[in-house]
Amino acid sequence: MKIAILTGGGDCPGLNGAIKWVTKSALDPILCATRSVSFEVIGILDGWRGLVEVDPDDPKSCSYHLRDLNEEIVRTWDRYGGTNLGTSRTNPFNPKNDRSGKLLENIEKLGIDVIVAIGGEDTLGVAYKLHRLGIKTVGIPKTIDNDLTGTEYSLGFDTAVNVIMEEIDKLRTTAGSHGRIFVVETMGRHAGWLALHGGECSGAYIILIPECPFEIDRMCDLLRVRKGREIHYSIIVASEGAKPAGGKEFLRDTKIDDFGHPSLGGIASYVADEIEKRTGYESRYLTLSHLQRGGAPSAYDRLMARRFGIAAVDMIINEDFGRMVGLVRGEIMSVPLKEIIGKLKLVDVEKYYDPVRYNGRRSIL
Ligand code: F6P
Repeated sequence: MKIAILTGGGDCPGLNGAIKWVTKSALDPILCATRSVSFEVIGILDGWRGLVEVDPDDPKSCSYHLRDLNEEIVRTWDRYGGTNLGTSRTNPFNPKNDRSGKLLENIEKLGIDVIVAIGGEDTLGVAYKLHRLGIKTVGIPKTIDNDLTGTEYSLGFDTAVNVIMEEIDKLRTTAGSHGRIFVVETMGRHAGWLALHGGECSGAYIILIPECPFEIDRMCDLLRVRKGREIHYSIIVASEGAKPAGGKEFLRDTKIDDFGHPSLGGIASYVADEIEKRTGYESRYLTLSHLQRGGAPSAYDRLMARRFGIAAVDMIINEDFGRMVGLVRGEIMSVPLKEIIGKLKLVDVEKYYDPVRYNGRRSIL
Protein backbone atom coordinates (compact mmCIF):
# COMPACT_ATOMS: atom_id res chain seq x y z
CA MET A 1 0.00 0.00 0.00
CA LYS A 2 1.22 3.50 -0.87
CA ILE A 3 0.80 5.93 2.02
CA ALA A 4 0.91 9.65 1.20
CA ILE A 5 1.57 12.01 4.13
CA LEU A 6 0.75 15.70 4.00
CA THR A 7 0.77 18.58 6.47
CA GLY A 8 -1.78 21.35 6.07
CA GLY A 9 -2.70 24.66 7.71
CA GLY A 10 -0.56 26.55 10.20
CA ASP A 11 2.77 24.84 10.79
CA CYS A 12 3.96 23.94 14.29
CA PRO A 13 6.58 21.95 16.17
CA GLY A 14 5.62 18.26 16.27
CA LEU A 15 4.71 17.95 12.59
CA ASN A 16 8.09 16.52 11.59
CA GLY A 17 7.94 14.03 14.45
CA ALA A 18 4.55 12.79 13.30
CA ILE A 19 5.83 12.38 9.72
CA LYS A 20 8.87 10.52 11.06
CA TRP A 21 6.87 8.06 13.15
CA VAL A 22 4.29 7.32 10.46
CA THR A 23 7.24 6.49 8.19
CA LYS A 24 9.19 4.48 10.78
CA SER A 25 6.18 2.45 11.88
CA ALA A 26 5.00 1.76 8.32
CA LEU A 27 8.45 0.65 7.13
CA ASP A 28 9.68 -1.04 10.32
CA PRO A 29 11.29 -4.33 9.16
CA ILE A 30 10.29 -6.25 12.27
CA LEU A 31 6.67 -5.08 12.13
CA CYS A 32 6.56 -5.68 8.36
CA ALA A 33 7.35 -9.35 8.95
CA THR A 34 4.22 -9.66 11.09
CA ARG A 35 1.90 -7.81 8.69
CA SER A 36 -0.07 -9.09 5.73
CA VAL A 37 0.52 -5.77 3.99
CA SER A 38 3.70 -3.87 3.18
CA PHE A 39 3.99 -0.11 2.70
CA GLU A 40 5.65 2.51 0.59
CA VAL A 41 5.61 6.06 1.99
CA ILE A 42 5.69 9.35 0.10
CA GLY A 43 5.45 12.91 1.33
CA ILE A 44 3.28 15.46 -0.45
CA LEU A 45 4.77 18.93 -0.41
CA ASP A 46 2.75 21.98 0.69
CA GLY A 47 -0.33 20.20 1.93
CA TRP A 48 -3.35 19.79 -0.34
CA ARG A 49 -1.82 22.25 -2.83
CA GLY A 50 0.90 19.72 -3.72
CA LEU A 51 -1.64 17.00 -4.43
CA VAL A 52 -3.74 19.35 -6.59
CA GLU A 53 -0.89 20.90 -8.56
CA VAL A 54 1.32 17.86 -9.21
CA ASP A 55 1.27 16.48 -12.78
CA PRO A 56 1.68 12.72 -12.26
CA ASP A 57 2.77 12.29 -15.91
CA ASP A 58 5.63 14.79 -15.56
CA PRO A 59 8.68 13.48 -13.64
CA LYS A 60 9.89 17.05 -13.02
CA SER A 61 6.56 17.99 -11.48
CA CYS A 62 6.61 14.83 -9.36
CA SER A 63 10.11 15.58 -8.05
CA TYR A 64 8.92 19.10 -7.19
CA HIS A 65 5.72 18.10 -5.35
CA LEU A 66 6.53 14.66 -3.95
CA ARG A 67 9.23 13.13 -1.71
CA ASP A 68 9.99 9.43 -1.20
CA LEU A 69 10.31 8.87 2.54
CA ASN A 70 12.20 6.17 4.41
CA GLU A 71 13.69 5.60 7.84
CA GLU A 72 17.07 7.08 6.89
CA ILE A 73 15.58 10.28 5.46
CA VAL A 74 13.35 11.01 8.48
CA ARG A 75 15.84 9.84 11.13
CA THR A 76 16.44 13.26 12.73
CA TRP A 77 13.20 15.00 11.87
CA ASP A 78 11.55 14.74 15.28
CA ARG A 79 14.00 17.26 16.80
CA TYR A 80 13.08 20.15 14.53
CA GLY A 81 10.10 22.44 14.39
CA GLY A 82 8.06 23.32 11.33
CA THR A 83 7.28 20.78 8.61
CA ASN A 84 9.93 19.52 6.19
CA LEU A 85 7.11 18.76 3.76
CA GLY A 86 5.95 22.36 3.72
CA THR A 87 2.31 23.35 4.17
CA SER A 88 -0.41 25.54 2.68
CA ARG A 89 -3.92 26.69 3.34
CA THR A 90 -5.15 25.40 -0.04
CA ASN A 91 -8.73 24.14 -0.04
CA PRO A 92 -9.35 21.85 -3.05
CA PHE A 93 -13.10 22.03 -2.33
CA ASN A 94 -13.22 25.83 -2.28
CA PRO A 95 -16.57 26.60 -4.01
CA LYS A 96 -14.92 29.58 -5.69
CA ASN A 97 -12.22 27.40 -7.21
CA ASP A 98 -13.18 23.75 -6.84
CA ARG A 99 -10.23 21.55 -7.84
CA SER A 100 -11.47 18.37 -6.16
CA GLY A 101 -11.74 16.63 -9.54
CA LYS A 102 -8.03 17.18 -10.17
CA LEU A 103 -7.29 16.06 -6.63
CA LEU A 104 -9.15 12.76 -7.11
CA GLU A 105 -7.54 12.24 -10.51
CA ASN A 106 -4.04 12.77 -9.09
CA ILE A 107 -4.69 10.42 -6.16
CA GLU A 108 -5.71 7.77 -8.67
CA LYS A 109 -2.84 8.41 -11.11
CA LEU A 110 -0.22 8.42 -8.34
CA GLY A 111 -1.52 5.10 -7.05
CA ILE A 112 -2.03 6.48 -3.56
CA ASP A 113 -3.90 3.99 -1.36
CA VAL A 114 -4.12 5.97 1.88
CA ILE A 115 -3.65 9.64 2.77
CA VAL A 116 -2.40 10.54 6.25
CA ALA A 117 -3.43 14.18 6.69
CA ILE A 118 -1.82 16.05 9.59
CA GLY A 119 -3.72 19.24 10.32
CA GLY A 120 -6.50 21.12 11.99
CA GLU A 121 -10.19 21.51 11.28
CA ASP A 122 -9.65 22.75 7.71
CA THR A 123 -7.11 20.14 6.60
CA LEU A 124 -8.99 17.28 8.25
CA GLY A 125 -12.24 18.59 6.80
CA VAL A 126 -10.80 17.93 3.34
CA ALA A 127 -9.73 14.45 4.48
CA TYR A 128 -13.31 13.82 5.62
CA LYS A 129 -14.73 14.91 2.26
CA LEU A 130 -12.31 12.57 0.47
CA HIS A 131 -13.38 9.75 2.79
CA ARG A 132 -16.99 10.39 1.77
CA LEU A 133 -15.82 10.06 -1.85
CA GLY A 134 -14.25 6.66 -1.16
CA ILE A 135 -10.64 7.68 -0.55
CA LYS A 136 -8.95 6.05 2.45
CA THR A 137 -7.87 8.79 4.85
CA VAL A 138 -6.49 8.94 8.40
CA GLY A 139 -6.09 12.21 10.31
CA ILE A 140 -3.57 13.35 12.91
CA PRO A 141 -4.71 16.38 14.98
CA LYS A 142 -2.44 19.42 14.74
CA THR A 143 -3.03 23.04 15.68
CA ILE A 144 -1.45 25.29 18.26
CA ASP A 145 -5.01 26.50 18.95
CA ASN A 146 -5.92 23.08 20.43
CA ASP A 147 -9.49 23.80 19.29
CA LEU A 148 -10.18 20.45 17.56
CA THR A 149 -13.15 18.60 19.00
CA GLY A 150 -12.80 14.84 19.55
CA THR A 151 -9.32 15.06 21.02
CA GLU A 152 -7.89 16.51 24.23
CA TYR A 153 -4.65 17.32 22.44
CA SER A 154 -3.49 18.63 19.07
CA LEU A 155 0.18 18.77 18.11
CA GLY A 156 1.90 22.12 18.66
CA PHE A 157 -0.16 23.39 21.59
CA ASP A 158 2.33 22.53 24.38
CA THR A 159 5.29 24.10 22.59
CA ALA A 160 3.27 27.25 21.91
CA VAL A 161 2.24 27.53 25.58
CA ASN A 162 5.92 27.26 26.52
CA VAL A 163 6.76 30.10 24.11
CA ILE A 164 4.08 32.30 25.71
CA MET A 165 5.37 31.48 29.19
CA GLU A 166 9.04 32.14 28.30
CA GLU A 167 8.25 35.44 26.55
CA ILE A 168 6.14 36.69 29.45
CA ASP A 169 8.88 35.68 31.92
CA LYS A 170 11.27 37.89 29.91
CA LEU A 171 8.74 40.71 29.71
CA ARG A 172 8.39 41.01 33.50
CA THR A 173 11.80 42.65 33.99
CA THR A 174 11.08 45.59 31.69
CA ALA A 175 7.45 45.88 32.85
CA GLY A 176 8.70 46.00 36.45
CA SER A 177 11.48 48.48 35.71
CA HIS A 178 9.02 50.94 34.18
CA GLY A 179 5.97 50.10 36.28
CA ARG A 180 3.97 49.47 33.12
CA ILE A 181 0.92 47.46 32.08
CA PHE A 182 1.83 45.04 29.28
CA VAL A 183 -0.85 43.52 27.06
CA VAL A 184 0.37 40.35 25.28
CA GLU A 185 -1.64 39.15 22.28
CA THR A 186 -1.63 35.40 21.68
CA MET A 187 -2.90 33.31 18.77
CA GLY A 188 -5.76 30.82 19.04
CA ARG A 189 -8.31 32.20 16.55
CA HIS A 190 -11.79 31.75 18.08
CA ALA A 191 -10.67 29.58 21.03
CA GLY A 192 -8.97 30.90 24.15
CA TRP A 193 -6.93 27.82 25.13
CA LEU A 194 -3.53 29.36 24.29
CA ALA A 195 -4.29 32.57 26.21
CA LEU A 196 -5.79 30.69 29.15
CA HIS A 197 -3.00 28.12 29.58
CA GLY A 198 -0.26 30.58 28.60
CA GLY A 199 -1.63 33.20 31.00
CA GLU A 200 -2.22 30.77 33.85
CA CYS A 201 1.23 29.17 33.72
CA SER A 202 2.96 32.57 33.48
CA GLY A 203 0.91 34.11 36.30
CA ALA A 204 -0.75 36.80 34.20
CA TYR A 205 -3.01 39.13 36.22
CA ILE A 206 -5.74 39.26 33.57
CA ILE A 207 -6.54 36.79 30.78
CA LEU A 208 -8.99 37.74 28.02
CA ILE A 209 -10.51 34.95 25.93
CA PRO A 210 -12.98 34.97 22.99
CA GLU A 211 -15.46 32.82 24.94
CA CYS A 212 -16.05 35.59 27.53
CA PRO A 213 -16.37 39.16 26.14
CA PHE A 214 -14.94 41.66 28.63
CA GLU A 215 -15.95 45.03 30.09
CA ILE A 216 -13.05 47.48 29.78
CA ASP A 217 -14.17 49.40 32.90
CA ARG A 218 -14.19 46.17 34.92
CA MET A 219 -10.66 45.48 33.75
CA CYS A 220 -9.54 48.98 34.79
CA ASP A 221 -11.08 48.45 38.23
CA LEU A 222 -9.09 45.21 38.59
CA LEU A 223 -5.91 47.10 37.66
CA ARG A 224 -6.65 49.83 40.21
CA VAL A 225 -7.04 47.17 42.92
CA ARG A 226 -3.64 45.76 42.01
CA LYS A 227 -2.04 49.20 41.95
CA GLY A 228 -3.52 49.72 45.38
CA ARG A 229 -1.52 46.72 46.57
CA GLU A 230 1.64 48.59 45.67
CA ILE A 231 2.32 46.23 42.72
CA HIS A 232 3.57 48.53 40.02
CA TYR A 233 3.13 46.51 36.87
CA SER A 234 0.68 44.01 35.40
CA ILE A 235 0.69 41.48 32.61
CA ILE A 236 -2.51 41.02 30.62
CA VAL A 237 -2.80 38.16 28.12
CA ALA A 238 -5.35 38.76 25.35
CA SER A 239 -6.36 36.06 22.90
CA GLU A 240 -6.45 37.43 19.33
CA GLY A 241 -10.14 36.50 19.14
CA ALA A 242 -11.12 38.23 22.40
CA LYS A 243 -13.59 41.11 22.14
CA PRO A 244 -15.16 43.78 24.34
CA ALA A 245 -18.75 43.08 25.44
CA GLY A 246 -21.04 44.05 22.58
CA GLY A 247 -18.02 44.41 20.28
CA LYS A 248 -16.57 42.35 17.45
CA GLU A 249 -13.29 40.48 16.91
CA PHE A 250 -10.39 42.68 15.81
CA LEU A 251 -9.21 41.99 12.25
CA ARG A 252 -5.58 42.45 11.24
CA ASP A 253 -6.61 43.07 7.62
CA THR A 254 -9.42 42.28 5.19
CA LYS A 255 -7.80 39.11 3.80
CA ILE A 256 -9.87 35.89 3.88
CA ASP A 257 -8.11 32.55 3.40
CA ASP A 258 -9.16 29.59 1.22
CA PHE A 259 -11.29 28.21 4.05
CA GLY A 260 -13.01 31.56 4.74
CA HIS A 261 -10.97 32.55 7.80
CA PRO A 262 -10.18 36.24 8.46
CA SER A 263 -6.83 37.30 9.93
CA LEU A 264 -7.40 38.28 13.54
CA GLY A 265 -5.26 40.85 15.36
CA GLY A 266 -5.25 44.22 17.11
CA ILE A 267 -6.96 43.49 20.43
CA ALA A 268 -3.79 44.09 22.49
CA SER A 269 -3.21 47.54 21.06
CA TYR A 270 -6.86 48.49 21.68
CA VAL A 271 -6.75 47.26 25.32
CA ALA A 272 -3.44 49.04 26.04
CA ASP A 273 -4.77 52.32 24.63
CA GLU A 274 -8.04 52.09 26.56
CA ILE A 275 -6.29 51.29 29.84
CA GLU A 276 -3.89 54.22 29.51
CA LYS A 277 -6.74 56.55 28.55
CA ARG A 278 -8.99 55.51 31.46
CA THR A 279 -6.47 54.93 34.27
CA GLY A 280 -3.41 56.97 33.28
CA TYR A 281 -1.26 53.85 33.78
CA GLU A 282 1.54 53.69 31.22
CA SER A 283 0.68 50.75 28.97
CA ARG A 284 2.40 48.89 26.15
CA TYR A 285 1.44 45.90 24.03
CA LEU A 286 3.07 43.20 21.96
CA THR A 287 1.84 40.47 19.64
CA LEU A 288 3.66 37.15 19.95
CA SER A 289 2.34 36.25 16.50
CA HIS A 290 4.21 33.43 14.74
CA LEU A 291 6.80 33.01 17.49
CA GLN A 292 4.11 30.74 18.98
CA ARG A 293 4.44 28.45 15.97
CA GLY A 294 8.26 28.47 15.90
CA GLY A 295 11.16 26.67 17.46
CA ALA A 296 11.91 23.08 18.36
CA PRO A 297 9.14 20.83 19.72
CA SER A 298 8.78 20.44 23.48
CA ALA A 299 9.22 17.02 25.04
CA TYR A 300 5.45 16.56 25.16
CA ASP A 301 5.00 17.46 21.50
CA ARG A 302 7.77 15.02 20.53
CA LEU A 303 6.08 12.33 22.59
CA MET A 304 2.61 12.98 21.17
CA ALA A 305 3.98 13.21 17.62
CA ARG A 306 5.46 9.73 18.09
CA ARG A 307 2.29 8.31 19.68
CA PHE A 308 -0.03 9.86 17.07
CA GLY A 309 2.19 8.80 14.15
CA ILE A 310 2.38 5.19 15.33
CA ALA A 311 -1.37 5.11 16.04
CA ALA A 312 -2.11 6.37 12.51
CA VAL A 313 -0.33 3.36 11.00
CA ASP A 314 -2.17 1.00 13.37
CA MET A 315 -5.41 2.54 12.09
CA ILE A 316 -4.35 1.81 8.51
CA ILE A 317 -3.55 -1.81 9.44
CA ASN A 318 -7.01 -2.02 11.08
CA GLU A 319 -8.60 -0.35 8.03
CA ASP A 320 -9.95 2.30 10.40
CA PHE A 321 -10.44 5.03 7.77
CA GLY A 322 -12.30 8.34 7.75
CA ARG A 323 -11.15 8.84 11.33
CA MET A 324 -8.37 10.63 13.16
CA VAL A 325 -6.08 9.73 16.01
CA GLY A 326 -7.29 11.37 19.21
CA LEU A 327 -6.33 11.66 22.87
CA VAL A 328 -9.51 10.81 24.78
CA ARG A 329 -9.51 10.60 28.59
CA GLY A 330 -5.74 10.26 28.40
CA GLU A 331 -5.86 7.34 25.97
CA ILE A 332 -4.86 7.32 22.29
CA MET A 333 -7.81 6.19 20.21
CA SER A 334 -9.48 6.71 16.84
CA VAL A 335 -12.23 9.29 16.47
CA PRO A 336 -14.61 9.81 13.49
CA LEU A 337 -13.55 12.76 11.33
CA LYS A 338 -17.20 13.74 10.97
CA GLU A 339 -17.14 14.57 14.70
CA ILE A 340 -14.75 17.48 14.17
CA ILE A 341 -16.35 19.08 11.13
CA GLY A 342 -17.94 22.48 11.53
CA LYS A 343 -17.43 22.85 15.27
CA LEU A 344 -14.59 23.94 17.54
CA LYS A 345 -13.60 22.87 21.05
CA LEU A 346 -13.96 26.18 22.91
CA VAL A 347 -13.06 27.00 26.53
CA ASP A 348 -15.92 25.98 28.82
CA VAL A 349 -16.22 29.25 30.79
CA GLU A 350 -18.30 27.57 33.52
CA LYS A 351 -15.57 25.04 34.13
CA TYR A 352 -12.29 26.85 33.50
CA TYR A 353 -12.72 30.65 33.58
CA ASP A 354 -13.56 33.25 36.21
CA PRO A 355 -15.61 36.03 34.52
CA VAL A 356 -15.27 38.26 37.60
CA ARG A 357 -11.48 38.16 37.83
CA TYR A 358 -10.95 37.72 34.07
CA ASN A 359 -8.60 34.84 34.80
CA GLY A 360 -8.58 31.08 35.23
CA ARG A 361 -10.76 29.65 37.97
CA ARG A 362 -9.37 29.51 41.50
CA SER A 363 -11.73 26.78 42.55
CA ILE A 364 -13.49 24.16 40.46
CA LEU A 365 -16.06 23.41 43.15
O1 F6P B 1 -4.57 28.08 13.28
C1 F6P B 1 -3.33 28.35 13.80
C2 F6P B 1 -3.02 29.80 13.69
O2 F6P B 1 -1.75 30.01 14.21
C3 F6P B 1 -4.04 30.70 14.38
O3 F6P B 1 -3.88 30.71 15.79
C4 F6P B 1 -3.73 32.01 13.74
O4 F6P B 1 -4.80 32.94 13.84
C5 F6P B 1 -3.51 31.59 12.28
O5 F6P B 1 -3.02 30.26 12.34
C6 F6P B 1 -2.51 32.45 11.56
O6 F6P B 1 -2.51 32.00 10.22
P1 F6P B 1 -1.30 32.36 9.24
O7 F6P B 1 -0.09 31.61 9.68
O8 F6P B 1 -1.82 31.90 7.89
O9 F6P B 1 -1.10 33.84 9.34
